[in-house]
Amino acid sequence: MIKPYFKSKDKNFYLLKGDTMDLLPKINHRFDMIFADPPYFLSNDGLSIQSGQVVSVNKGKWDKSHGFDYVNNFNRKWLKQIRELMKEDATIWISGTMHNIFSIGQLLTELDFKILNIITWQKTNPPPNFSCRYFTYSTEQIIWARKSKKVPHYYNYELMKQLNGNKQMQDVWKLPAIAKWEKSCKKHPTQKPLSVLTRLILASTKPDAWILDPFTGSSTTGIASNLANRRFLGIDKEKAFLEISKCRKLEIENTDVAELYKNKISGFNTQKEFINYLRSEPKPIKKVALGFCRKKDIPNLIKTNKFYFHAIEQNNFVRDFPSEVFDAKVLYLYKGGRGKPLFFTGHYGNIKDIKLKHKSEIQGKENSRTEFYYEITLENNFTFVEKQITRLDPKILFEKNDKTNKELLRKYLPAISTLDKVKMNLQKDKYAST
Ligand SMILES: C[S@@+](CC[C@H](N)C(=O)[O-])C[C@H]1O[C@@H](n2cnc3c(N)ncnc32)[C@H](O)[C@@H]1O
Repeated sequence: MIKPYFKSKDKNFYLLKGDTMDLLPKINHRFDMIFADPPYFLSNDGLSIQSGQVVSVNKGKWDKSHGFDYVNNFNRKWLKQIRELMKEDATIWISGTMHNIFSIGQLLTELDFKILNIITWQKTNPPPNFSCRYFTYSTEQIIWARKSKKVPHYYNYELMKQLNGNKQMQDVWKLPAIAKWEKSCKKHPTQKPLSVLTRLILASTKPDAWILDPFTGSSTTGIASNLANRRFLGIDKEKAFLEISKCRKLEIENTDVAELYKNKISGFNTQKEFINYLRSEPKPIKKVALGFCRKKDIPNLIKTNKFYFHAIEQNNFVRDFPSEVFDAKVLYLYKGGRGKPLFFTGHYGNIKDIKLKHKSEIQGKENSRTEFYYEITLENNFTFVEKQITRLDPKILFEKNDKTNKELLRKYLPAISTLDKVKMNLQKDKYAST
C-alpha cells in the first residue's frame, strides 16, 4: 500500500510523491482516463519573453534535455507502465510540443495504442517570438489515444457539438493560456489552463470516472476533474508542486469558490453552461454483471476468481454491446438463461479488473467458437449467501424496448444490469427465499 502525500476529505483527490516510474507499478487500481503532461525536455538554457521581460526557458532540473535516446526511453517506460493501469475502454491524452510529441506519437503506435485525434491547442494570447527568426509559437499538441484497437471508447459527441455552436467540434481548440485567477496558489512553470483540461475531461469521461495524471505539477487535471464531478490521482516528485496542488484542492472545497471557478472557465458559450451541463449529467448507477454459468463450472470459477464474458465481434472490432461491462462493479453468478429461468447461485464478488482477451490466452477456451472474451477478475474470493438463492425474471431485468438489444441479450447472456433491478426482482419474486 502506498501512503498518499495528500488525500482529500471527500476522497476524490489523491496525491502521491515520488518518481512516477517507481510508483506506477505499485498502483492497484484501473483508470478510465489518463492525462499526461510529461517533461518536454526543452530546458536548454535558451531565452524567451514573458510579460515584456526576457526570461530563461529553463523550467527546472526535471525538464533538462538529455538527448534523443534518453527522451525516447523515458517516454517508453512510463507509457508502458500506464497502459497496465488503464481500463480496456480507457483513453489517454498526452500534451507536448515539437520537443517530445514525435517521440510520444511513435511510441503510442509501438505500444499498440490507437491514436484517435491530435488536438491542436491554439493559444489566443501566445508570447511573442524573441529571436524574430521563426513564426510565433502559439500551439501545443495533445494526442488522444485509446488503449485497445478493438474496444470502443467513450466520446461525448453531443456536448462537444453544443460547445461549438451546434457544429461538430474540430481538432483545433482556440483557448487562452492560464488566467490570473488560476495562479491563486502560486504558479507552476508549465501550468495548463483549466479550460483545456475541462474540455478534454468532459469529452472523454462519464461522471465519477477515475482520472490519473502521472506528471501532475499543480494538478490542473485534478482540479478540473473534481470541478466536473470526476475523481483524481496525481503523481509528482517535487514537494513544492504537490503543495500547490493541495492548496488548489483545499481552495475548491469551498463551494462558493468552486462555483466561481466553474463560471470563469473558458470554452463555454455562456457563463453558466458548465454548471448547467453538470446538473444534467445522469447520476452514476451501480451496474452489476450477471454471469451465466453451468452448475459444473462453479467450482472452477471459485478457484480462479475469474469469469469470462463473450465479447461480440463485428468487422474486426468489438461491438458496443456489452461495452457497459466496464462500468460493472459487482459480479453475480446465475444458472439457467437462454430462454430458461435464471437462478442466482448465491455467489457474488466485487470486480477488480476487466480485460479483453483472445481465446488463445485463456486456458480451456482455445478451441472456442468465440474469438474474444472479457475476463472479469474479482478483488477477493466469491462470497456465498445461501438464503438468497432465488429466481429472477430476465424479462423484467432487461426490459429495454430495443429489439436488437433484446436479441443480443437472449443470445449472449451473461449481461449487465443495475443493482436496483436485481434487488427489485429479488423482492418481487414469489419464489424468493429471503
Ligand atoms: C509539464 S509539468 C506538468 C504541469 C501540469 N500539467 C500543471 O498543469 O501544473 C511536468 C511535471 O512532471 C514532474 N516530473 C517530471 N519527471 C517526473 C518523474 N519522473 N516522476 C514524477 N514527476 C515528474 C515535474 O516535477 C513537473 O511538475
